[in-house]
Amino acid sequence: MNVPLGSGFASRVKAIANDNHVITVCRTGVRSLHAVNELQEAGLFVKSLRGGIVAWSNTYVTSEVHVPDALSGRMIQMRRLSKGCTSYLIGDRKECVVVDPSSKIEEYVRTARIEGFRITHVVDTHKHADHISGARRLASTTGAQLHLSPMDSYCFEGYRPLADATSIGLENDRVKIMAIHTPGHTQGSMSLLVNDRMLLSGDTLFLDGVGRPDLQGSVEESARQLFRTCEKLFDELDSEAMVLPAHFGSNEDLMTAAPITAPVSIVEARIRKADLSDPASIAGRVCNLPKPANYEAILKINSGQASFDPSVCDLLEEGPNRCALAAEAR
Ligand SMILES: [Fe+2]
Repeated sequence: MNVPLGSGFASRVKAIANDNHVITVCRTGVRSLHAVNELQEAGLFVKSLRGGIVAWSNTYVTSEVHVPDALSGRMIQMRRLSKGCTSYLIGDRKECVVVDPSSKIEEYVRTARIEGFRITHVVDTHKHADHISGARRLASTTGAQLHLSPMDSYCFEGYRPLADATSIGLENDRVKIMAIHTPGHTQGSMSLLVNDRMLLSGDTLFLDGVGRPDLQGSVEESARQLFRTCEKLFDELDSEAMVLPAHFGSNEDLMTAAPITAPVSIVEARIRKADLSDPASIAGRVCNLPKPANYEAILKINSGQASFDPSVCDLLEEGPNRCALAAEAR
């Protein structure tokens, strides 16, 4: 319930708060401070969310993903809480790859610097529809090589095409990163298999669902591809390999300090229950799902058809990610 400042503000909040603590929220954290004063005078225990929704949209949490002892390298999961978006930094010795960076590229530059890595490769697993990608700007700012899937039709050049079985090498090739074409959510969606044990699944597999097939291209054809992709992954991957998705969804995930991941066997069991084999029924299910806010404008920016304007970035990206087709409630 939105209670704007104005006459009767304190009494309306008091009625809702019911003697509980109150946190006031506004866009940038200024008006919410005025609200605090007013509510304190009315006898409530109040705090304001510092920086407001804009600061919330820039809040990231990082978790180290456990890499088995016998394998090389480090992996850091970077979660943008407001959007439920996940990026990854995979490093070894002095170099690292950044996967699916958001538009707030300073976060990745800062994290890489703290960890002692130079960003040498940047990858987008697919053309994102729910948030503005930072991949192109991060690559040009750091001098890193940009890797994109040409099947997602980008309108600019200067990237290295990412195709099935392409590998991305770090110093000394101790960390093996191999691309797997996993179409369905988008035509060109790629997943990245790291050291044969960790699957960065982009928006193809989530821990409790799949990436919806209706945001780019023909829905039924994409749903068919998505089904085949899931079958292929479940067939070919080690059941103990860890799935590391590009989105997370539940409140439980929001509050955890641990990395968001699950073994292939668990993800497979959840997704099989959803029965993705009938494209017409998938199309029927997704047509009732609300689409990500401003997704057409975001796709144009990510395609290179429209330019990136940082002053409207937060506005365009407001709202939940809405990229998933849930298998079932966890
Ligand atoms: Fe997506």
